[in-house]
Amino acid sequence: MKALVTGGAGYIGSVTTELLLDSGHDVIVFDNLERGHRAAVDRRARFVKGDLRDRKKIAAVMAREKPDAVMHFAAYALVGESMDKPETYFGNNLVGGVNLAEAMLAAGVGKIVFSSTCATYGQPQRTPITEDEPQRPINPYGESKLLLEKALDWYRRIRGMQTVFLRYFNACGATKRFGEDHDPETHLIPIVLQAALGKRDRVTIFGEDYDTPDGTCLRDYIHIVDLAQAHILALTSAVSGAFNLGNGNGYSVKEVIETARQVTGHPIPAAAGPRRPGDPARLLAAADKARTELGWKPKHPDLRAIIESAWAWHRAHPDGYADKRPERNG
Ligand code: UFG
Repeated sequence: MKALVTGGAGYIGSVTTELLLDSGHDVIVFDNLERGHRAAVDRRARFVKGDLRDRKKIAAVMAREKPDAVMHFAAYALVGESMDKPETYFGNNLVGGVNLAEAMLAAGVGKIVFSSTCATYGQPQRTPITEDEPQRPINPYGESKLLLEKALDWYRRIRGMQTVFLRYFNACGATKRFGEDHDPETHLIPIVLQAALGKRDRVTIFGEDYDTPDGTCLRDYIHIVDLAQAHILALTSAVSGAFNLGNGNGYSVKEVIETARQVTGHPIPAAAGPRRPGDPARLLAAADKARTELGWKPKHPDLRAIIESAWAWHRAHPDGYADKRPERNG
């Protein structure tokens, strides 16, 4: 199939593009390179530099390419930043997404696989979280994703668009070629590995007084290759709907740091700090629906294996994608 991948120069988009190409699909990457990296775009994909806030550009690309489906990753994804700059999040994530959907409708492209997030649930009432958990976001990032889910769902009902919402939990890990390179970095695993590389003095643990076994937050860390596989299954499936993507295993911040110490052989100094506003104590997925309806089987649930894959990538790319040209990816 021919897929147009928005945000294919970003972390999850780059790996999904790689796996789509490995599976024999044709891929066009559409990315503004504001936060993504040109070197993260698989050289077998065709690349178009563009921004979804430019309605004419995405409409023209859609009309020219007429893909079988769109995979929509392009978005801002920092919870804290969204609290400072809500306009930026609604302007890009929501308006850009609506522009994308309009371009699809105009060009007769009837299928979208959308990167949504567990942040649409806000503070969950129950864990593990099922897809019917009330969606009450507590930050503009989660709200911007939820509002686009809602708009797309109306296009499904009224226009017959096939819509798949993949609600990711904590994406992590790497392939040999593509990994996580954000600036600034806010995610736990890359921060811990930057400490192991000597690029940070220490890791700050954001709160040790949560109601969890060791007092630190529990998260559901899901390997990026398993996330990418879910997209590929969604691409070839006829279903519409929302699917949580996680393993259902909770690992604490301290467990992540300790596992990284074992993997890297580095002491990784860590010190307790205050809680980070907006962090729920536990975010764990019930992903039975993705298993049953999409046939999804995560193959890399082990935290140690996840961190090993990320560590291999970070050691090979200590400065991330800086100075890398696309042809030197492999
Ligand atoms: N953490 C630390 N120290 C750090 C960084 C993170 O203790 O330096 C902790 C956080 O407090 C949290 C855990 O490590 O308890 C994981 O934090 P991340 O920032 O890696 O991930 P989040 O769980 O905050 O974020 C994820 C997704 C977001 C999504 C959010 C929903 O990455 O896209 O869940 O709450 F919005």
